[in-house]
Amino acid sequence: MPEFKIVTQMKNIAVIGSGSMGNGIAHVFALSGHSVLLIDVNQTALDKALATIAKNLTRQVEKGGISEEQKQTALSNITVSTEYGSQLAACDLVVEAATENPDIKFSIFRKLDEICKPEAILASNTSSISITKIAAQTKRPAQVIGMHFMNPVPVMKLVEVIRGYATSNEVCEIIMKKSAELGKIPVEVNDYPGFVANKILMPMINEAIITLHEGVAGVEEIDTVMKLGMAHPMGPLQLADFIGLDVCLAILQVLQNGFGNPKYAPSPLLVNMVTAGKLGVKTGEGFYTYTPGSKETKVAPFFQK
Ligand code: CAA
Repeated sequence: MPEFKIVTQMKNIAVIGSGSMGNGIAHVFALSGHSVLLIDVNQTALDKALATIAKNLTRQVEKGGISEEQKQTALSNITVSTEYGSQLAACDLVVEAATENPDIKFSIFRKLDEICKPEAILASNTSSISITKIAAQTKRPAQVIGMHFMNPVPVMKLVEVIRGYATSNEVCEIIMKKSAELGKIPVEVNDYPGFVANKILMPMINEAIITLHEGVAGVEEIDTVMKLGMAHPMGPLQLADFIGLDVCLAILQVLQNGFGNPKYAPSPLLVNMVTAGKLGVKTGEGFYTYTPGSKETKVAPFFQK
């Protein structure tokens, strides 16, 4: 048994990585009264993240969801840094939301384990990398857990809480409670490839791409069937663009390798698009084309009839 006591209050949070998931996670912790240290290797990325958080909080004020004062308090709760320093060492909970690459995540967790106080909990927002493997990089595997937020984080209610093989019951309970404190609905799942969300979502997206590739229907037709027929807010092809086609491909490969089952084999069309650098919203083109600052989307030239 460890000799220290885990801080159940956990008011000091660090978020590693300030991309779209990292800034969303910082946003929801800050808005619910936590002091948040947002860390990235790149100051420009941090400046961009702060501007995005301010823009998304303003959106919530305009919709009447929060007051101007709550927005200002949330912003003042966030500090940014490019260093793994003493402020990080004092944090009770770290949520890692760096690039979805196993080696990058493993190296971050080795560093966090060295720097963070022994009682700190280390969480990962990974969408498919094994929590058990991440935990094995540290000397505190019982205090490593998955906290998988959905994009856009301020809007989506779910947190998939992933128990690694060694995650303790106490840590799991604390993280379930903490997720609820953020106004989210936590769901506990076990650590198998894709967890629950992506084990089910990615085969659906892949099947939509296979359906397009086979010529059964066009981009808009496939998305319209799923939007109007199944009440999905976005069709699967638009959702794939939104998530990032490189991320979809990487998750399908984790499923295929992890289960050794060819049913998860990514569509060759998806592989081609990623190879060609058509990654969806973030590169301006995937199944649709996107213009920054505009909500308008058009079917990408490659898929126009
Ligand atoms: N921050 C704060 N609020 C935001 C926001 C953000 N980043 N993005 C959107 N909103 C708010 C809007 O202000 C709006 O609020 P009201 O309902 O109060 O009016 C609401 O969200 C809806 O937004 P919009 O009207 O701009 O647009 P929309 O109706 O088209 O909804 C959407 C946008 C919420 C993204 C919706 O299309 C949707 O739910 N899409 C599916 C998202 C999804 O499936 N996410 C999971 C992806 S998988 C994943 O993340 C995990 C993984 O591992 C891959």
